[in-house]
Amino acid sequence: MKIESVQQQDQIEFEYEGRPVRLPLVRGTEDEVAVDIGRLRSETGLITLDPGYGNSGACKSAITFIDGERGILRYRGYPIEQLAEKSSFLEVAWLLLFGELPRRAELDQFAEDVTRHTMLNENFGRFFGALPKDAHPMPVCAAAVGALATFYQDPEDEQKWKDSAIRLLAKMPTIAAYSFKHFQGQPFIYPQNDLDYPSNFLYMMFATPCEEYVVDPVLSRALDLLLILHADHEQNCSTSTVRLVGSSMVNLFAAISSGIKALWGPSHGGANQEVIEMLERIRHEDGSAERFITRAKDKKDTTRLMGFGHRVYKSYDPRATILKRACGEVLGRLGRTNELLDIALKLEEVALSDDYFISRKLYPNVDFYSGVIYQAMGIPVNMFTVLFAMGRLPGWIAQWMEMRRDPDFRIGRPRQLYVGPTERDFVSIEKR
Ligand code: CMC
Repeated sequence: MKIESVQQQDQIEFEYEGRPVRLPLVRGTEDEVAVDIGRLRSETGLITLDPGYGNSGACKSAITFIDGERGILRYRGYPIEQLAEKSSFLEVAWLLLFGELPRRAELDQFAEDVTRHTMLNENFGRFFGALPKDAHPMPVCAAAVGALATFYQDPEDEQKWKDSAIRLLAKMPTIAAYSFKHFQGQPFIYPQNDLDYPSNFLYMMFATPCEEYVVDPVLSRALDLLLILHADHEQNCSTSTVRLVGSSMVNLFAAISSGIKALWGPSHGGANQEVIEMLERIRHEDGSAERFITRAKDKKDTTRLMGFGHRVYKSYDPRATILKRACGEVLGRLGRTNELLDIALKLEEVALSDDYFISRKLYPNVDFYSGVIYQAMGIPVNMFTVLFAMGRLPGWIAQWMEMRRDPDFRIGRPRQLYVGPTERDFVSIEKR
């Protein structure tokens, strides 16, 4: 197979069974080039095989750009570093959903709409009550978001999509906080309309009816930053799940519920919980970063350095750079030191000077430092991935909307290479 200079040619040519096959090349706005294999099977009978999809683009998207080699992440063209410094989560949510930064009046109206939809139907109290006390909040949130589909069943149109997006953004913090309160055995705390988005969540999490609770602005800003950094990450496992499930034309609540389940796994969003548990384990054992790194490198040991490595980033994840700095700032402003942060810094130092990690291009990802901040904020470990889901929500919704509006939209249906038995005759049970 040969690709002659892509600049001069707009197709790739190869020979199969003596016949030339030409497939078009498609170029993105950042000069990434893809082979469009849409005609491959009809012209040759061939399919492609790409377990884990490391080489396959599933869609064209105008939402998020990542250059994993150069450590670049942009939402709708805006660098993550600028958004993290200058924007708010609701502003970023608007940007992801509607493509441009909102004007002042648009943002105010959006914040007002989201604020006015935060309450859950009172029947949700019984829904939470039916679940075991020690239920992990991730499946609780996924089930609750799925259950929203039973409350909002109108036929969908563009206006309903917008309504559903606002309802989801508004109710997700309430669902998340209630899943925690259920676990704690404390009464649910109603949302407060005079609080901003992150403060309202912290209030519902930590207030009780017994005493006044004032949200610390340092924690509120730290949470807003974490939500911004998690808001989208193009076609990762959970987003691809939202798109694939949504491609059957199921409604938005059902598609997002599936995304939350996909995010829960330790190879994906669940890694933030695993990182803190790993740091706790190291502290509990002997605090030795070197010893742990030796185990993480050992192929006979299943231990991995959690929060390290990424399918796309082959240099430092830009979100980890921002979070590493934020860790120091948040802990400093809260007037705390943190032994786990010291262990994390040591692990990073040891790993990044070790040939195993260097040769495989394994760097800290977003989950490596986020847990340290969550923990300093008093967020319980099993809620870490729920906060990831809260942040990722606008990205999932934006990706779902983009898919449904795509003129090339079709139900997602991969093919396979069958490697099972060839045809054989049924054997009756007596003769087996
Ligand atoms: N610790 C030790 N070795 C690792 C690690 C790690 N964290 N990550 C990858 N490797 C090794 C792996 O053993 C393999 O080695 P070899 O080539 O000798 O077989 C090589 O690096 C490539 O790894 P891979 O598993 O084939 O890479 P992948 O792209 O399929 O997996 C990953 C990416 C993120 C699942 C993986 O790096 C990992 O399990 N990391 C730890 C979990 C984690 O932090 N997940 C959060 C991802 S970022 C947030 C998100 O998007 O959800």
